[in-house]
Amino acid sequence: LCSAYPVLYYLPGSHNKFFKHVTEQREFILKEIKRHQESLNLSNPQDFIDYFLIKMEKEKQNKNSEFTMENLVITISDLFGAGTETTSSTIKYGILLLLKHPEVTAKIQEEITRVIGRHRRPCMQDRNHMPYTDAVLHEIQRYIDFVPIPLPRKTTQDVEFRGYHIPKGTSVMACLTSVLYDEKEFPHPEKFDPGHFLDERGNFKKSDYFMAFSAGRRSCLGEGLARMEMFLILTNILQHFTLKPLVNPEDIDTTPVLTGLLSLPPSYELCFIPV
Ligand code: HEM
Ligand SMILES: *[C@@H]1O[C@H](CO)[C@@H](O)[C@H](O)[C@H]1NC(C)=O
Repeated sequence: LCSAYPVLYYLPGSHNKFFKHVTEQREFILKEIKRHQESLNLSNPQDFIDYFLIKMEKEKQNKNSEFTMENLVITISDLFGAGTETTSSTIKYGILLLLKHPEVTAKIQEEITRVIGRHRRPCMQDRNHMPYTDAVLHEIQRYIDFVPIPLPRKTTQDVEFRGYHIPKGTSVMACLTSVLYDEKEFPHPEKFDPGHFLDERGNFKKSDYFMAFSAGRRSCLGEGLARMEMFLILTNILQHFTLKPLVNPEDIDTTPVLTGLLSLPPSYELCFIPV
């Protein structure tokens, strides 16, 4: 609305709180960049900001360079915006589903004991030997349908699709729910069931309908990282703790509290009991 009627920017209202947060985040990032500039060692870059600053320095003379201060700030806030709330809320939602389905949690813990044991930390290679855990992680993402309708995209050319003519330059928004809740691919899609990603012999079953990270060239850039984080964090927790809800598992309500761009889980309490 503010983009269409810029005068709204200047009116009082809760949107000002949002702009205040945006400004604060920008200031935080600028401060971090300054700190990096002060400690930068050209022959020993430590992280993304250092590498970007070195590129900026190298391309200082190039007027068309993409490596500008403005692009550095925007890229960092993109990584924060796209990479933190998404993964943490998916894990938070996942733990809520594990509380509601203790039989599923027990099977993951059995697999952890069998494949990893108690005496070393889980690592990424373990995932290949843990079809059940892998299936649960997929089912969590399918079931919570975290990004029901992702970012708007534009067609780069005229497209004929199922009898519809979509001209070049049309904004298109995919509906991921329609794929993640497809009844033919996932029988009883409204049920949380890791069996949706397992074959009869208990092997992991890949599905082309798993589009929690969207599809195509502009699908999630962080998919690999996000899937690693989810696997490592959840297996580390379950290796060391039994999860105990404060209410009866059947009484746990997993309806999202808010659905906008993201479908957010309700807040809840639980006990972590060392195993
Ligand atoms: C469970 C975690 C995550 C989920 C469910 C998720 C989901 C998505 C979805 C649905 C999109 C939109 C794709 C489209 O419009 O077609 C997207 C885009 C994106 N994601 Fe993620 N994401 C997650 C984690 C991350 C992480 C950890 C990062 C980076 C560290 C990240 C970076 C991005 C970026 C940069 C884009 C924009 C890609 C582009 O415009 O080309 N995401 N993500
Ligand atoms: C910069 O990094 C190089 C390579 O690690 C190191 O040898 C050098 O001492 C560092 N310089 C400073 C000023 O810290």
